[in-house]
Amino acid sequence: MKHFTQTDQAILEHIIKARRDVRGHHFTQERVSNKELERILDAGHHAPSVGYSQPWKFVVVQDKSVQDAVYENFKQSFKKSKKRFKHRASYASLKLEALKETSLHIAVFYHHQGGSILGQTSQADTGRYSVAAAIQNMWLMARAMNIGIGWVSILKPKRVRKLLGLGEAYELVGYLCVGKVKTFLDEPELKTKGWQKQKSRSQTVSFLNGTPKGSTKHIKTIVGSKAFLKPLVGKKATFMVALSHTQTANIEGITQAGLKGLMHLTPTLDAELLTLGKLKTLKKLPKTAKGIPTPALISRAVHLLSPYGRIESLDLGLLKAPKLKTKQLHSFNIAPSGRIDKGANINALEVFEKGVAFGRSYECRDDYLILAESVPSGTTTATATALALGYDAKKLFSSSFKEVPNSLRQRTIANALKRVEGKSDLFEILGEVSDNMLIFNAGFILGVEGRFPLVLAGGTQMACVLLVANSLARYMGAEVKSNNLALCTTKWVALDPHSDIKALLSMLDFPMNAYYTNFHFGSCFKPALKRYDKGEAKEGVGAGGALMYGYLNGLSTQEMARQVEGFLG
Ligand SMILES: Cc1cc2nc3c(=O)[nH]c(=O)nc-3n(C[C@H](O)[C@H](O)[C@H](O)COP(=O)(O)O)c2cc1C
Repeated sequence: MKHFTQTDQAILEHIIKARRDVRGHHFTQERVSNKELERILDAGHHAPSVGYSQPWKFVVVQDKSVQDAVYENFKQSFKKSKKRFKHRASYASLKLEALKETSLHIAVFYHHQGGSILGQTSQADTGRYSVAAAIQNMWLMARAMNIGIGWVSILKPKRVRKLLGLGEAYELVGYLCVGKVKTFLDEPELKTKGWQKQKSRSQTVSFLNGTPKGSTKHIKTIVGSKAFLKPLVGKKATFMVALSHTQTANIEGITQAGLKGLMHLTPTLDAELLTLGKLKTLKKLPKTAKGIPTPALISRAVHLLSPYGRIESLDLGLLKAPKLKTKQLHSFNIAPSGRIDKGANINALEVFEKGVAFGRSYECRDDYLILAESVPSGTTTATATALALGYDAKKLFSSSFKEVPNSLRQRTIANALKRVEGKSDLFEILGEVSDNMLIFNAGFILGVEGRFPLVLAGGTQMACVLLVANSLARYMGAEVKSNNLALCTTKWVALDPHSDIKALLSMLDFPMNAYYTNFHFGSCFKPALKRYDKGEAKEGVGAGGALMYGYLNGLSTQEMARQVEGFLG
């Protein structure tokens, strides 16, 4: 057995770190000798392979006409790929191949050999991984010989296979440009050119040693203390989203939380996206006219990285129920509510009692519950509700707009308030100016009575749920048990200059814990996401609570932001 010395190890480490992907502008005309080529191929042959299947096929391409045809294919594929990066101007100027600058190409294929292969029976792709391992061997060997390799993958694999005269049993894994170089760069070019930042080890390595990896560092306190959060680090939550439709959303220009003319479908589609990761009722992502996608993407992204224990939806009056399994959807036979300026027409006592009963009977099967909402125009109904209940909350509510469309909103709210002038029965008032989500969730909180930790995931609408619970508890001589209750929203709501969630929470008779997550899309490039950071959309479908869950389970801001960006293609 060969024993390697520390010097050998240092050399290997050096080669690994000095290996570079070499692009066209760094190659010279000097030929790679046959002997050198053989050594590189030999390194490929010594790679590990699943079941020792050695499923590789190396085709050395030195025929200029074939090389030219491959280059033509690159040009076409590159042109097409530019569309995908139209939000990143530098893409078009990147040099991403060396097809013309090198006279030696090696196409490396995976050979579908058929039959059962030891080790490949559960993971079909392990054959392909073996070929990738062979390429890495070649890359390192070449670097040790001061020979450069550039991997080109902006090619149509089937086209390249056919150009090289191979049949369907072969699948292209990597097309390599090989040659002598002027210089090897010290750092990856995509890093120095600012295309991608280098990930730190803490971002990519996690240790499962029994200690929770999350923390409360990126969760900031609005009111109360972090003591509520500490026991939730590393714990599982049920994510529940309350969905309802108010015809207030049909008032043209009052909300931008969805597709024009299809605002009533936003909660339905949000629930499908969150639960299933795909849209069933309509294959259109809910987004604003400016292209800002639904915050359901944030809540879904967190689930893909660190899954919630389960996701449940509440149908609190939808025009169209989401296409979910029975156990994923709770239905309460509640009708969508009307426009608040014309009378919401809610049987508020009944909706409230349904909330209380559900809260009383609900068994949380995870460590805690995150309760979210999706109600387009819900901030308008929340403002009207808080004012109708007598809270001095005129300028305290946020909206999905960066700048609130004040006159329309105010007119709608003023007309709603006129309808309840002189009325003192709280249920009658709520029935005129509120929405089902606010009333039901207030009942739910009272029904749960602090039996398990409950996080209200939302902004000023969830603050309004608390105001409703506060008023109704006072009205009925009951008590809101808030020691096991918290609210968590996004930074975009908490630091919004046009609203004041802290002031809303200060109107409660009971103490509250409320937080916001310090999450942002700073590392993303998609303009639609940048708009969140500028104050558009802000919150919804429990985005703030989802991000809290992510941080408590050790996810990083970048990880979550990238996962959301990935949904946008
Ligand atoms: C599977 C794979 C495909 C790649 N495809 C391309 C490509 O089409 N064009 C390119 O310029 N670089 C390609 N690269 C090289 C990467 O951009 C490069 O490895 C990365 O930026 C890190 O730089 P370094 O290899 O110099 O350390 C590919 C690398 C891998 C592993």
